[in-house]
Amino acid sequence: LHGFFRPKSLAGRRVLLTAGPTFEAIDPVRGITNISSGKMGYALARACRDAGAEVTLISGPTALPAPVGLTRIDVQSADEMQQAVLGQVGTCDTFIAVAAVADYRVKNRTEHKHKKHEGPLDIQLEENPDILRTVAALPAAPFCVGFAAESRDLLEHAERKRRDKKLPLLVANLVQTAMGADDNQVVLLDDHGAHALPAMPKQAVAEAIVDHLAALLANRLP
Ligand code: CTP
Ligand code: CA
Repeated sequence: LHGFFRPKSLAGRRVLLTAGPTFEAIDPVRGITNISSGKMGYALARACRDAGAEVTLISGPTALPAPVGLTRIDVQSADEMQQAVLGQVGTCDTFIAVAAVADYRVKNRTEHKHKKHEGPLDIQLEENPDILRTVAALPAAPFCVGFAAESRDLLEHAERKRRDKKLPLLVANLVQTAMGADDNQVVLLDDHGAHALPAMPKQAVAEAIVDHLAALLANRLP
């Protein structure tokens, strides 16, 4: 069963998601960003909506239309994304971080456009806040789901990330299979171990993640 006809396993839940890349300005016409189409995050937002949740999607710049039946908040930088998340998280019981957040922002961004005759462009970077880590460490943290995009040693890196950020659920995928594609193959890591899913369209992957999430939420101790 697909779309509206999915079981309402998240009825009564409020889910907050991040999706897409972030954009970190260098000057008014330039910036640095991560490679992310937003497809996986949007698919997951739709799957949460279809499962009956009230959904808020905080999105970096993507070419995707806003899905109906949920609230989308558009942001550019990681800093803006973090502020939007912290403004919403208090009313949500689940947080799913799918965004490919830029780990660095430009420390010496300029108000005006850099001109070539001014000489070489010198870009200094400083670290961005880790939004997921910040939310997972809140005193009243929601149930936190992370994503890990790795280029090698997938399970080892992903499980370390899950323990390090103290996440009950992490979705691991290889950048080589995930990025920009319509299909994805993921492994779900939780306290019970690793659950590998077959390669399938991102919407089907999203529905499988929601089924797993709903089961974990239902068994969660108060
Ligand atoms: N994340 C976040 N804020 C950041 C960086 C990452 O919320 N500043 C979230 C992502 O949305 C994802 C998870 O953290 O759910 C893991 O992101 P990833 O880039 O794979 O891990 P990092 O912790 O940034 O480590 P690294 O890039 O060094 O592998
Ligand atoms: Ca990162």
